[in-house]
Order: sequence, then structure tokens, then C-alpha cells
Amino acid sequence: MAVITEIKDLKRIYERRVPRMFYDYAESGSWTEQTFRENTSDFDQLRLRQRVAVDMTGRSTTSEMIGQEVAMPVALAPVGLTGMQHADGEIKAAKAAEEFDVPFTLSTMSICSIEAVAEKTSKPFWFQLYTMKDEGYVRRLIERAKAAKCSALVITLDLQILGQRHKDLKNGLSAPPKLTPKTIVNLMTKWTWGLQMLGTKNREFGNIVGHVDGISDTSQLGAWTAEQFDPSLDWGKIAKIKEMWGGKVILKGILDAEDAKMALKVGADAIIVSNHGGRQLDGAMSSIKMLPSILDAVGDQIEVHLDSGIRSGQDVLKAVAMGAKGTYIGRAYIYGLGAMGQAGVSKALEVIHKELDISMALCGKRKISELDQDVLLVPKDFTGDWR
Ligand SMILES: Cc1cc2nc3c(=O)[nH]c(=O)nc-3n(C[C@H](O)[C@H](O)[C@H](O)COP(=O)(O)O)c2cc1C
Repeated sequence: MAVITEIKDLKRIYERRVPRMFYDYAESGSWTEQTFRENTSDFDQLRLRQRVAVDMTGRSTTSEMIGQEVAMPVALAPVGLTGMQHADGEIKAAKAAEEFDVPFTLSTMSICSIEAVAEKTSKPFWFQLYTMKDEGYVRRLIERAKAAKCSALVITLDLQILGQRHKDLKNGLSAPPKLTPKTIVNLMTKWTWGLQMLGTKNREFGNIVGHVDGISDTSQLGAWTAEQFDPSLDWGKIAKIKEMWGGKVILKGILDAEDAKMALKVGADAIIVSNHGGRQLDGAMSSIKMLPSILDAVGDQIEVHLDSGIRSGQDVLKAVAMGAKGTYIGRAYIYGLGAMGQAGVSKALEVIHKELDISMALCGKRKISELDQDVLLVPKDFTGDWR
């Protein structure tokens, strides 16, 4: 058994165990992948201030996100097709999050349905909404999330239309995979994945199949998305959805101070500074570089969270020290899930927690609330001089 000490270890096992089509789906950015790459490399530009002779006893990483106590300021981001990375993937990830005491966010494009995840978990999870043209469907989806006692609605704003990822088109990404000669050859090397998948009923888009009039085949994700997602989503519609939901709302995909101000106006409880993990607008700035301007604009009036590029507890520490109240991991837990199922997601969370705790201590801090810019060494030109 491999000794797992960092997220990269999980990624290596993940690559071996999961069909290429789903590995590529997770491990890609749009077009040239510049934004995808910079999401991680920009974190590396930030350095930490080593401090010594501070009493390190009694440390804690507990914190709060939208008023919910969390074991560390890290939530699991919504990830579509998680149930294709591992059988019942959404249920497994939700259980690991529940055990660790961090929030789990279920994607609209999940394989396991809202009801299936609710049935197998005992704590409320968050639900991520993609808005569709069919308003009746959106209303029913919101009602289903309420009935499942989801405790926050995460509305994703940066995917009204789908960014292009070359590999997904070339691989013919679908759920479940279409059996072409190429996929058959690849699946023959992924026996464990296949056997586990045969053991579950959850193999299609659980929130969609049987819930959208006239749609029975959602296997071609790209075509279906282009046809069904609502390209006319605007702030007026967001306000209406917020009203329909009536609970906590988090707006995901804010990357610009002007949009952050609009999110504030609409009355969101939190925003997620995000570029969808570099999967939508290639050429956009990394989340960590856009964070300071967004904090300047709205940071004292709304909770600001961040995702895109987090691969370690040090990345979490950097984002929080810069001013984010919470962070989300996407690929980092998907690697764990594909590698080892629920135990792998738990492992990813343990790795990140340990890195966060040790780094915090070596920076001379004992609590998340003590983390601030003082901990960071930020290059003068970090955010750049753009016009
Ligand atoms: C494979 C994959 C699928 C995703 N699906 C969704 C989704 O269904 N809904 C959503 O709001 N974001 C989705 N995202 C974006 C994540 O929620 C998150 O913003 C992103 O993964 C953060 O970047 P990171 O993977 O570098 O941590 C997806 C990301 C990945 C990698």
C-alpha cells in the first residue's frame, strides 16, 4: 500500500484507476489551459513569514462559513459527474465531508440525485444550481433541494454556456461511457472501477433523468448543456431564484469587483471568487490574483470565499490570510475519490488539514481568526499592472 503524504500521491493513483475519459474531464482546463495552470502557479508566488518562539499549544483550525461551524475553512466544491469517478461518488464524498465536519456541495450535474445523497447522509449538505431554460424544472429542483433539507443554495454564474475543453470533445465524454473501441480498450484496464460501477444503479444524471420533460438521454453532456442551460441568466433572474429559495445563497463564479458589487446588491450571503477551476474563460486571471480587488470592493460587507487552484493546506492558508473567509477544493478531493473512494476523500481532507495546521503553527498562529496579511510575503507586482 502506497504511503500517501500529499495530494499528488492521490492524483497518481487516481490516474491509474479511473477511465481516461473521466480523468481527462477533471484534469483539463478550457482551450490553452492558461488559467487552469495559473490557478495553481500563482499560489506559488506567495510566500509565508516564518515566526518563532510563539506558544503553539492549543491550536485549532475550526472556523465558520455562512454561519456554519466547520473543522477548517474548506468545503467540497460542486463537481459534475462525481459518480463517474467512483461508484456512488457523490454519496461517498458527502459522507467523508460529514465525518470531517466540512460542507459538501452537490452539483446539479451529479450522478447520484439530491434524494439519494440525502438518504445516505445525516447532516445537511449544500446544493449547487445551474439554471436551465425550463423554469418549471428549476422550480422543482429548488423544491427538491428544500425537501432534502439542503442548508445553502450555491448558484453558479460562470457557466451559462459551456467553455470548450478539447479532450472532452476528442474523448466523446459521456455518462455512462459510450462503448467505442477506444473506450473498451481503456476500460479493460480499469476492472475495479467497472465492477464497482456495475454494483450501483446510479449511472446517469440523477437530478435530471426523469425530471426534465422530453429529455431521456443526457449521455452527451456537451450537447445537452448547450441545449438546456439558460444563456439569458441575469441579476434579475438571480434575485428571483434567491426569493424562491428563501434560505442562504452563495453566488459562485465571481471574478470581478463590479460583479461582486452586484452580488452584494442582490443580497447574497457569500460569494465564491472562482473561475471554475480554469474550465470556462481561458485567459481569465487566477482566483487568488483577483481576490484582493474583490475584497477591497466588498470584503467588509459580504463573506468572500475562494476556489480554483487549491491543492494543499498551504494554499488554504494563503487564501484565508489574504482575506477569504472560506475555500473550496474541487480536483483535490476528486483525486482522492477516484483513487480510494470515501477513504480517499477523507485522506485528501486529512492531508490538507495537516498542512494547514502545521503551516499555521510555523507562521506563529494558533487560530484561523488570527490569520491575516501579516502571515504573507506578497511580491510587489503580484496582482500586476493591467489596464
Ligand atoms: C471535473 C469538474 C467538474 C465540475 N463541475 C462543476 C459543476 O457541476 N458545478 C459547478 O458549479 N462547478 C463545477 N466545477 C468547478 C468546481 O466547483 C470548482 O470551482 C473548481 O473545481 C475549483 O478548482 P480546483 O479544481 O482547482 O479546486 C467542476 C470542476 C471540475 C474539476
